[in-house]
Amino acid sequence: MAEKPLLRLLSCGSVDDGKSTLIGRILHDCGTLYEDQLALLEKERTSEGLPDFSALLDGLLAEREQAITIDVAYRAFRTANRRYLIADAPGHEQYTRNMVTGASLADAALLLIDAPRARAGLLPQTSRHTLVASLLGVPVMIAAVNKMDALGYAEADFRAIEREFLSRAGRLQFSAVYCVPVSALHGENVCRPGGTPWYSGETVLEILERLEPAVRTSGALRMPVQWVAKGDGGFRGLTGTLCAGEVRVGERVALSPSGLCGTVKRLAAYDGDAESAAAGEAVCLQLAEDLDVSRGEVLSSVGAEPEAADQLAARVVWFGDAPLVSGRAWLFRLGTASARATVTELTAKLSLETWGEIPAKELRANDLGLVKIKLDRKLAVSAYAECRELGGFLLIDPLTSATVGAGMILHTLRRGSHIFPHEFALDMRAQARQKGQTPRVVWFTGLSASGKSTLAERVAKTLHGLGRHVAILDGDNLRDGLNADLGFTEADRAENIRRAAAVAKLMSEAGLIVLACFISPYRRDRSALRALFPAGIFVEIFVDTPLAVCAARDPKGLYAEALGGRLPNFTGVSAPFEAPENPDLRVDGQRPLEELAAEVADFVEGLEIPDFLERAGS
Ligand code: ADX
Repeated sequence: MAEKPLLRLLSCGSVDDGKSTLIGRILHDCGTLYEDQLALLEKERTSEGLPDFSALLDGLLAEREQAITIDVAYRAFRTANRRYLIADAPGHEQYTRNMVTGASLADAALLLIDAPRARAGLLPQTSRHTLVASLLGVPVMIAAVNKMDALGYAEADFRAIEREFLSRAGRLQFSAVYCVPVSALHGENVCRPGGTPWYSGETVLEILERLEPAVRTSGALRMPVQWVAKGDGGFRGLTGTLCAGEVRVGERVALSPSGLCGTVKRLAAYDGDAESAAAGEAVCLQLAEDLDVSRGEVLSSVGAEPEAADQLAARVVWFGDAPLVSGRAWLFRLGTASARATVTELTAKLSLETWGEIPAKELRANDLGLVKIKLDRKLAVSAYAECRELGGFLLIDPLTSATVGAGMILHTLRRGSHIFPHEFALDMRAQARQKGQTPRVVWFTGLSASGKSTLAERVAKTLHGLGRHVAILDGDNLRDGLNADLGFTEADRAENIRRAAAVAKLMSEAGLIVLACFISPYRRDRSALRALFPAGIFVEIFVDTPLAVCAARDPKGLYAEALGGRLPNFTGVSAPFEAPENPDLRVDGQRPLEELAAEVADFVEGLEIPDFLERAGS
């Protein structure tokens, strides 16, 4: 009989649940271990004198982790029937992140439930893992109710856990859910039956042996371009892996989102020239036309292109240290494409109790939620349910480069496709030329009462006296109108800054020198600002006045209130101020106002004129 196709498994649960022991047990019972590993097992014994499989597995992981930092360890084993690949997320921390990374290709999830602990009810992490596996589209869920030996293999305990688990998992999108009473330590019901005469179901391995891997490569041709190889004589090869469909020599193909079209002239696959290639194959493809294709575009058949969108509704699993709040920008990576993404709306958080949607202002590490996202450019995308490669994305913190979230696109938002920003002829260059000045956005950041507004006003006066056209944008004033709905939570401040920046952008496009005064205490929000403007327009000035001095000035009496515990979320007292590390200019807020204003005005006047304005002759 032909061997069955490879089965990909995702293991979820923590070491405490006995995950390493279970995987070690499977590897051992399937005869996958090497001599030296068996010798280690002889040596490492549990307190009961049984071989310690978890020591074996943790040892393997430790070895690997020294060599390279990995999120997910893959381990392979085989039976007479087929090969298996288990994506195992090591460590206690950030298990959700690791799980997401390993899950997108999994055919089944193997979830560990610690029976003694689950007797009092399923743990939140079990609930979360189940939900994440379902959202990621893992079709089959196998719950191994472990440590049954510690409960004397009591049927009543297992049935209670099974009932609760099945009633919850039954509400999710799995095609099959199994619950098996096991003892990973003793091997009962893992690869062979035992310990539970009252259980007539299959062992974990019997279930695995029966499963058929999910087929996800059907559908229309999709190939994200990974890179464009350039060779002699103008040769250009589009390389990438087909994630769905088929491509043939002579076929007309399209690239999205650029909309370019061409004809496939030559196709090189792994073992040389080919007439066609199918999903799963990596190819280098040459077009008859000389097109300027770039990485991140998606190749498809003409007439069956993926949607190009810049606004999306998506589910996200969040694991950032900083919360996800609407208004904040992140780097967005989808397959081989990237963009900048702003979360425009946090629609809901998913409850781990009911799995329903609950209103929320922010997502914290390990939370799941529904969001709307705006990208800074159009990308070829798909719903995750239709194509994981074009529907699954990562969010990356631009400050730390850490992956802080994983998302699954639900659908694109049509409002995005009906908006066409108009390129007005009366642009920043024309406005700048008429006013005879270089538009600027001078962003003052600093504590409340550090002197931002007073300084900006004095600078404005000086610049005005020099014939400049100036506007002041101030936190307190903006909060009196446009931002009257916002308070001082991290989420509200992020939105405050996003809107302030949008106004500053319009004003700078009108040719003005904008002096913007906002505490803007979060580095993440400030770091996103510069990229909104043409290079050289935005500058950040840190008005550096010590907290004690601001508190002593206390012009509005707010420090007194905050220090008395009557004003929550007050910057510097009960909310953070993340001082800029590399501002364009740092001024000492304790120096005399006239001196400070002269320094800042000189600084602004002395800034270089950006190339694009100079060319315009301004
Ligand atoms: S920001 O943090 O979102 O940038 P913004 O600069 O707009 O703040 O507004 C700050 C002003 O709001 C302060 O100067 C102060 O007058 C007032 N304010 C009221 N409550 C707070 C608070 N909890 N924290 C900081 N400022 C507050």
